[in-house]
Amino acid sequence: MKLIQGTAALLLVGVGLLLLANRTEPISPALARLSPLPPTPLDPTNRWADDARAVRLGHWLFFDPRLSLDRSVSCATCHDPSLAFTDGKPLAQTLGVGTRKTPTILNTAHSRWYFWDGRADSLWAQATEPIENPLEMGMNRLALAHRVYAETDLRDAYELLFGTLPPLHLSERFPANARPIPDDPQHAHAVAWQGMRDTDRQSINRFYSNLGKALAAYERQLIRAEAPFDRYVTALAAGQGDGDGHLSDSAVRGLALFLGRGNCTTCHNGPTFSDLEFHNNQVPTADGRPPLDPGRFEGARIVKASPFNGAGPFSDDNQGAAAARVRRLKTDSMSWGEFKTPSLRNLKGREPYFHAGQMADLESVLHFYSTLEGASGQSHHQENVLKPLDLSPTESADLLAFLESLEGRALDPHLSVPPAGPMHK
Ligand code: HEC
Ligand code: HEC
Repeated sequence: MKLIQGTAALLLVGVGLLLLANRTEPISPALARLSPLPPTPLDPTNRWADDARAVRLGHWLFFDPRLSLDRSVSCATCHDPSLAFTDGKPLAQTLGVGTRKTPTILNTAHSRWYFWDGRADSLWAQATEPIENPLEMGMNRLALAHRVYAETDLRDAYELLFGTLPPLHLSERFPANARPIPDDPQHAHAVAWQGMRDTDRQSINRFYSNLGKALAAYERQLIRAEAPFDRYVTALAAGQGDGDGHLSDSAVRGLALFLGRGNCTTCHNGPTFSDLEFHNNQVPTADGRPPLDPGRFEGARIVKASPFNGAGPFSDDNQGAAAARVRRLKTDSMSWGEFKTPSLRNLKGREPYFHAGQMADLESVLHFYSTLEGASGQSHHQENVLKPLDLSPTESADLLAFLESLEGRALDPHLSVPPAGPMHK
């Protein structure tokens, strides 16, 4: 009996050891939060978000300069696929010079709020803004509706997907130029908009938000994941203690710094390397004067008031989670000067960095985090998590090597050039 028990015990120990040898390594929770990038979250506020015909139309529109007043500017003018969907300039510049840096669109379908100040809560609502921005595309929604109505390729593609356009030939009901301008109600276009019937304004807004929904469907395709860092984490999880060589020794040290003393994951956390929220890093202003940009403080007010938010009449889920989120949002003076935490995936080609392009390259960004040199805005709410890190040259090089390991797999090349036509075949 003893012998049998002894043998059984030995067997158990043996099986246990075998299991141990074969088990997969549990990776640390800190790493599991950063990788992999999960599938793109659904957007129930946009019923066309994943519709192949909408992707095709949005893809076409993204590259089509007819969305701008003088037919010279498309979304891709500023969001250039060869520059990680940015423009390489400190401040965006087309019809005029803006006040902020063009951010990337890569992986931004994972965001919760759009723009540096989060003044839009969906990709489709975001897309309506640059078209009418006088410094960007300079259009107004009535002129755009007339243009789509008149140009057969656009009209056919639009109507196939979204149904018949409003009767735009009725010029007494549909002025040539009109849009709401809350800041300038005396503007001729604002007056013309106010003069329209309520139901006609609604149908134009429906048209305008539908274009945004098609653009959003395309932008949702612009995902670059599976970076060397993700392959490193996958290898660790499979029990390969060295991460199968996917990161250099320097990048591994950089990762430790990123998670540890660097405190970077206080904000750059989650699979996009952003908490998807807003912080005031007191980045230096270009002219060294106190900052004037209210950032999130204004952004929160605007998104709550927007008819295109998730709780509004053009949302396809205005009782859902997105609606609750915008209703819950508080406008808070503590958020003055806060900007959205940018994703750190795919940093290459996005320079200059920060919300007004204040830093020419990643070395300068790291120099800022190391020294907080030129930090601005002491009078407002400030992040006290930011302390000068005093990085040694080796530590900076290590952090840089780690950031460079976050370049995802290349996009499918067809997404970076306009399709043959707006219509889905
Ligand atoms: C004049 C250059 C310019 C043009 C044209 C332009 N954008 Fe942008 N885009 C910007 C700038 C600048 C910002 C940031 C502005 C801000 O935060 O206030 C931005 C922000 C965005 C964002 C937010 C990204 C994020 O993660 O928050 C998206 C998405 C976007 N643009 C898509 C588009 C689409 C779609 C079009 C065409 C309808 C377009 N843009 C046209 C310059 C431009
Ligand atoms: C307190 C939150 C916070 C911490 C901590 C933090 N960041 Fe940031 N990071 C931000 C925000 C917010 C911005 C945008 C700031 C702006 O433009 O005003 C940013 C911008 C950046 C950018 C520029 C990206 C772009 O598109 O312009 C890089 C790179 C970056 N951070 C890396 C890091 C690294 C590396 C660390 C750790 C050493 C770190 N950050 C720590 C919040 C943070």
